[in-house]
Order: sequence, then C-alpha cells, then structure tokens
Amino acid sequence: MERPDRPAKVKKTEPPAIAPRTEPAPELVEDRKSPHVDIRWLKDIERVLITEKQLARRISEMTQLIQRDFSGREMVVISVLSGTVMFLADLIRHLNLPMRLDFIGVSSYGAGTESGDLIFTKELRIDVKNRDVLLVDDILDTGKTMSRVLEKLKPLRPRKIRTCVLLNKAARRVADVKADYVGFEIPDYFVVGYGLDFAERYRNLPFVGVLHEHVFKEIQKSPYRK
Ligand code: PRP
Repeated sequence: MERPDRPAKVKKTEPPAIAPRTEPAPELVEDRKSPHVDIRWLKDIERVLITEKQLARRISEMTQLIQRDFSGREMVVISVLSGTVMFLADLIRHLNLPMRLDFIGVSSYGAGTESGDLIFTKELRIDVKNRDVLLVDDILDTGKTMSRVLEKLKPLRPRKIRTCVLLNKAARRVADVKADYVGFEIPDYFVVGYGLDFAERYRNLPFVGVLHEHVFKEIQKSPYRK
C-alpha cells in the first residue's frame, strides 16, 4: 500500500534521473482563412494546419526545454524512422549540447493495417547503457510505436529516457504512453508534411497540412500505393 507520509527509499548507488520539467504544448490556434497553400499542393492539401513559422518557433522553444533537462552529460538522441526526418534535423541543429545520434526503424507488419504487429526494421547501433536518451518521433497517435520502442529501450538500461514528439493526437491513444516534450496538440485530422507521409508521399512539404479526403480515398484504391 502506498504511504504518502513516508518518503520512498532511494538507492545510493543510482543517481536519480532528473524529472522532466515539461510544460504543456500550447493550444494550436488554427487559422481557417489562410495560411496560403502553395498552388503546387492545392489539389491534395485541404489547408495548412501548422505553418513553417509556427514550427520553427515551437521547435526553438522545445530545444530550450531539452537543453535545460539534459545539460551536463553527453546525450543520445534516438530518432524513429522515417517521419522524423525534418523535425529531427531542425531540433538537433538548435540543440547546443554534446550528443550522439542513432536511428531505430519500426513498421507495422502488413502495410495498411492499423492493428498489425510492429516489427523492427532498423536496430540501434549505439550502446545506451547508462546514457541519457532522448527518443524522438514525429507523431504520437495510437501510441503503439512509442510504447513498443520504449519496451525495447528500457531493458538496455539507459540512465534516463525522455520522449519528444512534434505532434500529439491524444484522441487516438490506445497504448498507455505520454511524451515528455510535445510540439503541438492536434485534433484527429489526417496530417501530412514536414516529414509525415501518406503512402510515402508529402514528406517534403515544409508545413503540416490536412490531406483532402478525396486523396486519401483515391490513393487507397490505387494499385501504385505503397
Ligand atoms: C508513424 C509515425 C510514428 C507512428 C505513430 O510512423 O512516424 O512513428 O506512425 O503512430 P502510432 O502512435 O499509432 O504508433 P509510420 O509507421 O507511418 O512510419 P513512417 O515514420 O516511416 O511514416
């Protein structure tokens, strides 16, 4: 039984990992009229959800928080392939800390299925034992990916693990997992861009946009989809 009146015993041999002092992600203020979707994307993208400027500003704030929590020791950044490509690049270029970088690949067994088992497509190369790890993903959706990666990392005995995502779609959460650093809380829209794909497309958009429903339906029918 929990005894709130008695402090928990702390083993002297293990320095307590610093608790993250995270702050909630700011409410996303959507601008329905604008921002302007470039003509190249108008056919596929219904609207811009998060602009380049909003992304840059928020990522800079996130790096401040991460720096505060990770200063003093070399950190290991582990990035989940492939959707993190743009977020990761912008995040680490502003992280003024000694760090090493590694990637981990996770994919659903059986493309297109939501409930498929997750398999690892790329293993870690860096030993994370006793290291301060920042796990980076682009979106926390059902939470299955993050939870599976954490299950894999914890037995490797890092000194601490913190999780960082650009987008959090809390409405779809299935697994019991939270991110320590969140860029934006977003509604349950089908978002693409800034690394996020639909059937491997749209990763190169410089903003996060909402995909038109017709695109979603057409690509699903197409024999050329991923
Ligand atoms: C996406 C995204 C996250 C994961 C989140 O990856 O990049 O890793 O889904 O979803 P979840 O919380 O429901 O598990 P995806 O498998 O589409 O691969 P990708 O990163 O290569 O696009």
